[in-house]
Amino acid sequence: MSEETAPYGTGPGSAPAPVKRVRTHHLREMKQRGEKFTMLTAYEQYAAQTFDEAGIDVLLVGDSASNNVYGNDTSLPVTVDELIPLVRAVTRSAHRALVVADLPFGSYQASPEQAYLTAVRFLKEGNAHSVKLEGGLAMVPQVRKLTEGGIPVMAHIGFTPQSEHNLGGYRVQGRGDAAKKVIEEAQALESAGAFAVVMEMVPGDVAAEVTRSVDIPTIGIGAGVECDGQVLVWQDAFGLRTGRMAKFVKQYADLHGELLRAAQEYAADVRAGTFPGPEHTF
Ligand code: KIV
Repeated sequence: MSEETAPYGTGPGSAPAPVKRVRTHHLREMKQRGEKFTMLTAYEQYAAQTFDEAGIDVLLVGDSASNNVYGNDTSLPVTVDELIPLVRAVTRSAHRALVVADLPFGSYQASPEQAYLTAVRFLKEGNAHSVKLEGGLAMVPQVRKLTEGGIPVMAHIGFTPQSEHNLGGYRVQGRGDAAKKVIEEAQALESAGAFAVVMEMVPGDVAAEVTRSVDIPTIGIGAGVECDGQVLVWQDAFGLRTGRMAKFVKQYADLHGELLRAAQEYAADVRAGTFPGPEHTF
């Protein structure tokens, strides 16, 4: 590295090759063509850049940042003010992916007006391209208000983590007679203007039925293979988080193991006096 090179990372300013941004209509067209699309969470610059480079179509700055960035046990405590800087980092860093900002618990449920004012902050201050909110029929007025006000909305039904206390913990939703409710919710949210709907922990056959019964794309997380797209929390999928994983998580890497090994090797080098070497010394 030359002395002129920025020593701590280049920042997002280095000029990217122009690429075509994924838009909400592209996802719908992919559904029509029967092409699957991809979504991952992202909360900061390097993951966002890497996933964008990998061709991930949608990046979700999830309220799961509560657990995966801020160290909380649930998604409930994270605030709008904590999420907006993460959204800004991701939108600055992803040149192709559609960026979706999650509206956190308590920032939209009170009224359509509250939802609109919160969503506007994510678009103005975070440069988000769209927002996501959790809930079924009760959220129809919110979805309508946002979409009529020019804000694309991704809905989220099935297991909705912000309602975990009301749902009695992490449980599959839509089994048996409850399947009808999931289908009705997806259809009502589509009619209200949602451009896509996430289904979390819904039986595969029910999610397949929902996918066939709406024109907007469905995105599964624990909802089987017949959804139009899939989403995972990246720290789960790539093994940065350890411990018990939900059944629907497939682990593609062991980043915790690799980071641990690297940190231990660095510590051993420093303690042994073998780092820095002459090649790292001016
Ligand atoms: O916040 C989040 O990560 C999510 C996904 C689980 C869809 O909402």
